[in-house]
Amino acid sequence: MRRTTPTLRIHLTIILALALVGGLLTESVQAETKQERDARMQWWRQARFGMFVHWGLYSGLAGTWKDKPIGTRGGMEWTQQRARVDTWEYAHEAVPHFRPAEGFAKEWAKLAKEAGCRYVVFTTKHHDGFCLFESEVTTYDAHDLVGRDLCKEITDAIKAEGLKVGYYHSVIDWHHPQYDYLKADQLPHPLKGKPSPNGPRNHDIYVDFLHRQAKEIFSNYGTLDIIWWDYSKKGNEGPFWRSDELMAMARRLQPGIISNNRLYHIPHIEKKDSVGRLKTWKPEQGDFTTPEQTIPSTGIPGVDWEVCMTMNTTWGYSDHDHAWKSNETLIRNLIDIVSKGGNYLLNIGPKGDGSIPRESIDSMRAIGKWMAVNGEAIYETTASPFEQPAWGRCTKKPSKLYAHVFDWPTDGTLEVPLKGKPVKRAYLLADPTRKILQTTTNTSGITIAVPSQTLDAIAAVVAIEYEE
Ligand code: GLC
Repeated sequence: MRRTTPTLRIHLTIILALALVGGLLTESVQAETKQERDARMQWWRQARFGMFVHWGLYSGLAGTWKDKPIGTRGGMEWTQQRARVDTWEYAHEAVPHFRPAEGFAKEWAKLAKEAGCRYVVFTTKHHDGFCLFESEVTTYDAHDLVGRDLCKEITDAIKAEGLKVGYYHSVIDWHHPQYDYLKADQLPHPLKGKPSPNGPRNHDIYVDFLHRQAKEIFSNYGTLDIIWWDYSKKGNEGPFWRSDELMAMARRLQPGIISNNRLYHIPHIEKKDSVGRLKTWKPEQGDFTTPEQTIPSTGIPGVDWEVCMTMNTTWGYSDHDHAWKSNETLIRNLIDIVSKGGNYLLNIGPKGDGSIPRESIDSMRAIGKWMAVNGEAIYETTASPFEQPAWGRCTKKPSKLYAHVFDWPTDGTLEVPLKGKPVKRAYLLADPTRKILQTTTNTSGITIAVPSQTLDAIAAVVAIEYEE
């Protein structure tokens, strides 16, 4: 056997040491078995319905910039970018209107609970860079501006209602002087196209800052159930943010945490045919994907997904956007999404004092009223076992099918394509007497004799219990 020389041995030792240190430094998410992952995802898959909250400095501006509406549609949380101003000018206008009332967070949490949401995700930092959490690494946070840790107030209020809590956190940051928007050229920035006012920027310094803030939110507020990153695009994704480390840090500090996939190149607005694009999806790059403002026509099989959606057209509050969705649309959206196997994350955009727009309160309550009667056809259910029928949608549990009827049959018979399963009983969830409805079997499924009038014009649910 050839003997190694002392110099070669020293070199080998150094290489080995470097490899080890390198391995330790670039942490990556620990692999888990399917069972472990299913256990971690369980509550989220059963919850089906969550409330999203966009709230920050922009909320007080209410879609108005220097006395003029900055638009009537679309994201008002982008006001700084729309006005194309730096942080000084933006904050100068916005801070006087950001006046959180005492106890505002309790109202949010109560409303979410009343609506039947099982979780709340709120913006800890949006693209403007202003932090609701107390941060050691910036003075651009609620603690320094209003003397309160708003992140703690909101987190505590959500937990007090027994709901799970999620943090939206933007990796884009329009306030940080080293956020290199020339390098992050795929992403929006208020100064885009203009030279950097403070000379060349050092992207690595910003990424360190991002990691330090991530550590703060993972460490300082107790158990965190969801981290909802926003957002990346090809060229400015994954390694650009040292995302593997962020993902690993999240799981190290919050072992049960569930993460979306917006740190990586998965188009953040996934239109109908996202299935093909998700073929390269890796679970270590996020637990669920996030179609935005759109419901995939046939769901996204094999992937956990959550549709996030506004009630009008903006995430952040605007005085000028009156395009509110009807309660019918919102409730049917929830049913449609759940019937395809997804979750619904429905947004509210509170005002600068933290109060919730009247229209959102009314709609959340209407959803809550529907959920109080029909919640069992939503929670813990899975996607419809067959294509959507002309009259509405279906959801499923073991030995139970729920027919959500949007268009009530005028001839008193409901055709359900449930084949080869002996029916035990069928009844309407909205009927307090739970009167048994007569069912007959035919070649294409079952026929249920239903009352001539619907019990709920938005969606009446017939529960069908059968033998598997
Ligand atoms: C987008 C927008 C943002 C909003 C988010 C919600 O990425 O940039 O304003 O917060 O989507 O999904």
